[in-house]
Amino acid sequence: MLNFSFYMPTEIIQGQEVVTRNGDRFKQFGTRALIVTGKRSAQLSGAFQDVAAVLDNLGISYQVFDQVENNPSTTNVVQGAEAARQFNPDFIVGIGGGSALDAAKAIAVLAVNDFAPECLYHGNYPNQPLPVIAIPTTAGTGSEVTQYSVLTIPEKQTKVGFGDRTIFPKVAFLDHRYTESMELDTTRNTAVDALSHLVEAYLSRRASDASDMLVEAGLKLWARALPDLKSAAFSSGMRDSLLTASALGGMAIAHTGTTVVHALGYPLTYFHDIPHGKANGLLMAEYLRYNLQHARSRVEKILKLLNLKDIGEFAELMQILLPTDLRLTPEQINEYGIAASRTKNASHSLGEVNSQVCIDILNNSLG
Ligand SMILES: [Fe+2]
Repeated sequence: MLNFSFYMPTEIIQGQEVVTRNGDRFKQFGTRALIVTGKRSAQLSGAFQDVAAVLDNLGISYQVFDQVENNPSTTNVVQGAEAARQFNPDFIVGIGGGSALDAAKAIAVLAVNDFAPECLYHGNYPNQPLPVIAIPTTAGTGSEVTQYSVLTIPEKQTKVGFGDRTIFPKVAFLDHRYTESMELDTTRNTAVDALSHLVEAYLSRRASDASDMLVEAGLKLWARALPDLKSAAFSSGMRDSLLTASALGGMAIAHTGTTVVHALGYPLTYFHDIPHGKANGLLMAEYLRYNLQHARSRVEKILKLLNLKDIGEFAELMQILLPTDLRLTPEQINEYGIAASRTKNASHSLGEVNSQVCIDILNNSLG
């Protein structure tokens, strides 16, 4: 029997108006909250207004740090931590997409630990991070149920994730209504991020019966959302399926980590401004092709659960959902491929993902 452990400490509360109907959950974390969010989506989605009303009702005082950037940098989360130290909150409420939720986790650590952001990557934090409540307004990141936070490190010219058990959100409120204000591109890009988590968890050295179960359920939901996602006739049923698929993908990668697809996608985001989910999606068909030699039956199962006949049809689907003009030069392909092959993500992939494998994936996808 395969040895594995399963740890999922986040309470997930899903349904319509869950924030309003479960306001009491906020009370258990204290009387002062810092809301961490980006510029737009928290307000636009209605999530911010719901949280503010609940906090007002409960007499919980709050301040807002709404300066989270897309793909937040270490400098950005240090700013957030300074805002937190000034206000001295008991807990953090992260509202938004992956950027806001990842920033909320990093700020939760830095607010109570007086160290440089590099130390986030070392774990063993002297002081327990502040509790985080996570409210996603996109359906893709899965960050609401993971111990990960991915930050841009300007000196390294890329994004690097850190993970620590103490930063799992305490509660995740999932209400698909908060994802309805997403525009077409963001809806599709983030949906593909969820798909990428599901696919990568399934094609990971660290996959277990437990993560497989989460992935298979997530892929079925993703397939259910696919006709609407493809036709751009976004229904609330599609939003709900994607939000659940995203959380299932998050729970799966909380145990397996991501693979080289994410490592190869980061430079596309850093250097070419390609949104995170889209970056993964541009590479995923080739990753499936690469895996045929290592786990053919798993690749076939993924396609079957998505109701797709082969990898060619999967590639066509990605082209429809993620149109792009991006083409990489041979120099870029070499540089990004070599860097990705040296990451932990690469070592989680099946087979031996060396620099040539990475270069081939990039070349066949974007060469
Ligand atoms: Fe991701």
